[in-house]
Amino acid sequence: MKRLLDLVRVSGCAAKISPLELERYLKEVEFKTSDSIVVGVGDDAGVFKLGDYYIIQTVDFITPVLNDPYLWAQASTANALSDVYAMGGEPVSALAIVCFNNCDMNEKDFELIIKGSMDKLEEAGAFLIGGHTVDDKEPKFGLAVTGYMKREPITQSGAKPGQLLILTKPIGVGVMVKALKDKRIAEDDMGEIVRYLTMLNNRASHLMLELEASACTDVTGFGLLGHLYKMCRASRVGAKIYYDRVPIYEMAINFAKEKLFPKGTYENYKFVAPVLKSKLEDYINYLLCDPVTSGGLLFSIDREREKELLKKAKDMGLDVWIIGEVTEGSELEVL
Ligand code: CO
Ligand code: CO
Ligand code: CO
Repeated sequence: MKRLLDLVRVSGCAAKISPLELERYLKEVEFKTSDSIVVGVGDDAGVFKLGDYYIIQTVDFITPVLNDPYLWAQASTANALSDVYAMGGEPVSALAIVCFNNCDMNEKDFELIIKGSMDKLEEAGAFLIGGHTVDDKEPKFGLAVTGYMKREPITQSGAKPGQLLILTKPIGVGVMVKALKDKRIAEDDMGEIVRYLTMLNNRASHLMLELEASACTDVTGFGLLGHLYKMCRASRVGAKIYYDRVPIYEMAINFAKEKLFPKGTYENYKFVAPVLKSKLEDYINYLLCDPVTSGGLLFSIDREREKELLKKAKDMGLDVWIIGEVTEGSELEVL
């Protein structure tokens, strides 16, 4: 039996299509909509109105980021639920998407994947109610999630110049997963990262709502700058980021200096390059574009709420970092 990470073809968090390619493929497609659709294609999740409720739908599935099947499923579950939390909703139910091959993978792993996911769903107050399996040499696991909310969803398009930008988990996951796949580190060295990978964004979402954030997204495959760019574009604003305030796994910085990045990092960099203004070293710019799995929420709040943010986060036992601010214009400036 092979280790899960040895079965992954392209190293990185999820072997996703690059943001530039995706936009090129969809260039000629015009998405249809209706009066009941509140948020359509392009945001973290789709939302439609049903009676008094806003119903949220999203899907995410990823290749292994850990060799431990139980923990990988927990990370993938936290990752799939994250788009519901980014809209400000609560997840209710989920359908599993499992790509599995019992010639290459340990049969017992299938059970551990489902158990890991269900335990994480239970923590979120949601339940697995079905799924679909495909025979595949490359393992993949994820969920289609349904959530709801009673108030209007928070989208990516409400950021206003002068607001503060808040991030709730460190970055550097892509580099670390590559280092693990390349056997530069052992799974035991991933302790702090595994804790964040499997952490739900539920508390971050509650905090974001309490602070009346006007825009929110979650940091995943397009990296910190990729998702910030998407948010800025949707809001028609720019942003200024202070590198020394961005939380980054310490080991990831060392691997970044060696340029041990997955392919996705460079693709994400190409996506933001036209608007990026940075005098910092290349490896730092790349690291800020490094793909993340199950990253934190990134949201914008009014400057006057800084003290309230820090106090509420402390009371919740949640980490928050004020990484920069929203600006006029369309540039992403990194200082
Ligand atoms: Co998202
Ligand atoms: Co997503
Ligand atoms: Co089916």
